[in-house]
Amino acid sequence: MAQNDFRSMSIYQIWIRSFCDGNGDGIGDLTGVYSKLDYIRSLGVDAIWFSPIYPSPNADYGYDVSDYRDIHPDYGTLEDFKKVLNRAHELGLKVILDLVINHTSDEHPWFIESCKGKDNPYSDYYIWREPRLKKGRELLPNNWYSQFAGPAWEYCPQRGEYYLHLFSKKQADLNMDNPKVREEIKSIMRFWLDMGVDGFREDVITFISKHEDLPNGLPFLPVINGMPYYKDGPNILRYLGEFREVAQEYGAVQIGEAPMTSVRSALRYLKGKAPVLDMIIQFDAMMADCFLTEYLHHRFSLRKLKRAFSRWQYGLAGKAWNALYLENHDHPRVVSRYGSERWWRESATALAASYIFQQGCPFVYQGQEIGMTNIHLPSIDHYLDVASRNIYHMFHRRWPEEKRMHRIHVSSRDSARTPMQWSGEKNAGFSETEPWFFLNDNYHRINVALQEDDQSSILNFYRACLSLRKGSDTLLWGSYREYFPRSRELYMYERKLSGERILIVCSFSGVGETYDLPKGYTEDGAEMLLSNYESPALGTLRPYEAQVWRWC
Ligand code: GLC
Ligand code: CA
Repeated sequence: MAQNDFRSMSIYQIWIRSFCDGNGDGIGDLTGVYSKLDYIRSLGVDAIWFSPIYPSPNADYGYDVSDYRDIHPDYGTLEDFKKVLNRAHELGLKVILDLVINHTSDEHPWFIESCKGKDNPYSDYYIWREPRLKKGRELLPNNWYSQFAGPAWEYCPQRGEYYLHLFSKKQADLNMDNPKVREEIKSIMRFWLDMGVDGFREDVITFISKHEDLPNGLPFLPVINGMPYYKDGPNILRYLGEFREVAQEYGAVQIGEAPMTSVRSALRYLKGKAPVLDMIIQFDAMMADCFLTEYLHHRFSLRKLKRAFSRWQYGLAGKAWNALYLENHDHPRVVSRYGSERWWRESATALAASYIFQQGCPFVYQGQEIGMTNIHLPSIDHYLDVASRNIYHMFHRRWPEEKRMHRIHVSSRDSARTPMQWSGEKNAGFSETEPWFFLNDNYHRINVALQEDDQSSILNFYRACLSLRKGSDTLLWGSYREYFPRSRELYMYERKLSGERILIVCSFSGVGETYDLPKGYTEDGAEMLLSNYESPALGTLRPYEAQVWRWC
């Protein structure tokens, strides 16, 4: 794939374990994916991003890799993967894999060797430190917290040292300062690129270069206190530059995940003579109902969402390309968060129109295209996600159970990980046997089969949005401008190219409202391109109505 080509793409994300079970063991797999490739193509997307499909003990469901060159036996074999890859290519779909190289599983052979002592070939593959001595007491090497709560250090008795883990203790951070580790990464990249994979989504990639001294962070900041010393670290551009060279030999696209980043830091990766990434997955639009993480929940604020949208649209304009998303495997379902389960169809479709027509590559996460909603499991023991469980056990221990569980219901990543709802039949058509994780019991009402035949469905609205974008130079390349940014009910933005202007108007309210056209617009010549209601009228919105108008 030519790197300058990626910008017109839209991308469908698969979290395989819950996508489709092809062999009847209750776990999604590659045979299941193969059977759904035509469906994915029918959405009008151009690429598939697979969350990790490698062997993994699943402490963090695939983001703890124990072998970078194989397929998890639950999901199939390398042969199965090649079949999917070839068929996807035949259908015109690119395939993007998750490259998880900030850390490996503690069950990866490199780590097992590294634990054995200080003088074997893998000793320096990870970040090892002796305990800190203070007034004769042994302390952890520094005060950093892991992103999943609790300290970022774990003691290894065999080696007599601590290793760093920015995520769970089963995810040991690699020592990227070791040139041998970087050679390993490049060779892993080549392994998949030689097979024909088209690019990578690079997991927490802005964390891979740590400050040499690992200094203490601010003691009163939970979770993120070490971040100034590992985010956008001292050698990050050099390391990514090395990986970029490999990607460029193959014309592979590189999408980097960058938690808590700013436009300014993102541009360091995306701009300049030698950009090291094609796009950045930033988190700003994920914080319209919370402070920093979904767990610190507050009421949804449309103005916060719009500020996040526009900050990135204006910030990257003419300089770099946006990755646009409202859902992935790390966040609760957006219709439950920013929309309304009462105005379910209307709000899910308005949300689609609110981001797909911005400038950038839209991502659609499995189930988002049918408006899947959050799940509310009765107790923390029902949850499998390591982050949800750690957070539950760490925080607010004196809160009543009900209140604590409410926090989990609004924040858990497990809401995005329930099996895909294909039909109203047994096990939602996901599997012949009982699925590995809880189904959302609304699958009788919310499923692909029902929506296929319904022209006004969320599914068909997603298709319409993606195809409209794909066929319009203005929506692909035009400039972005937001109108009425102070409105609490309305999101209106313009895309403009040469003489053509397209106005996208989305209501975020459950009551009808009217709106004015921005200065310079008149009703004359307005052509309706798309709406989630019948007979839309310029200037009037019904609950969660979305309208796309064109002037030329
Ligand atoms: C990324 C992944 C997330 C994972 C974390 C650690 O944020 O998207 O699922 O838990 O990195 O690998
Ligand atoms: Ca299976």
